[in-house]
Amino acid sequence: MKYRPASIAWMICLLAGLAFLGLYWSHDIVPQDNDTPSYIGAVGGPFTLTDQDGHKITEKSWPNKYLLIYFGFTHCPDVCPTGLNKIAVALDALPADKLAKIQPLFITVDPERDTAADLKNYVSLFHPKLIGLTGTSVQIEQVEAAYKVYAQKQGTGPDYMVNHSAFTYLQDPYGRVAGLYSHEMTAQEMTKEISQAIK
Ligand code: NI
Repeated sequence: MKYRPASIAWMICLLAGLAFLGLYWSHDIVPQDNDTPSYIGAVGGPFTLTDQDGHKITEKSWPNKYLLIYFGFTHCPDVCPTGLNKIAVALDALPADKLAKIQPLFITVDPERDTAADLKNYVSLFHPKLIGLTGTSVQIEQVEAAYKVYAQKQGTGPDYMVNHSAFTYLQDPYGRVAGLYSHEMTAQEMTKEISQAIK
């Protein structure tokens, strides 16, 4: 049988997603009440990266903002474009006062190939507020670990792929992950979830 690389990428994303869900459901954090999702406190953390203009940034670089974070890479054939288009639609459907409180971020899982300039060009295709972030391989590994991102290089030569999980994270101004949205969630659902989460 012949598999298209794109289908394989989707399958890997699905498997990574399931692995991730298992990871945070098995996490021994007990929700304080029914309104507190179990992943609160289990994902996210400090990071130091470089933005698309070459400036050093951290998770504290946007005070009082909610960060909407997506991990991917600019050579991604379909998962990232689909996810980023959905984020753009979801953002544009928010009331202006809530949109103003959000900084959307795209963090590369492919720092050896995605330069700051590549990221700047790429994110501009999706949303004017979106900022691309890269870093050293160690910095990227650290941020992936904090957010429990699955990312695995596949293949050799210049056209290699990076299979990766495709969750969108909403992080509140205190650095806590306040929302975790799957690749399958619709833009309308994401708008509703973000709108409810932003105070
Ligand atoms: Ni991707």
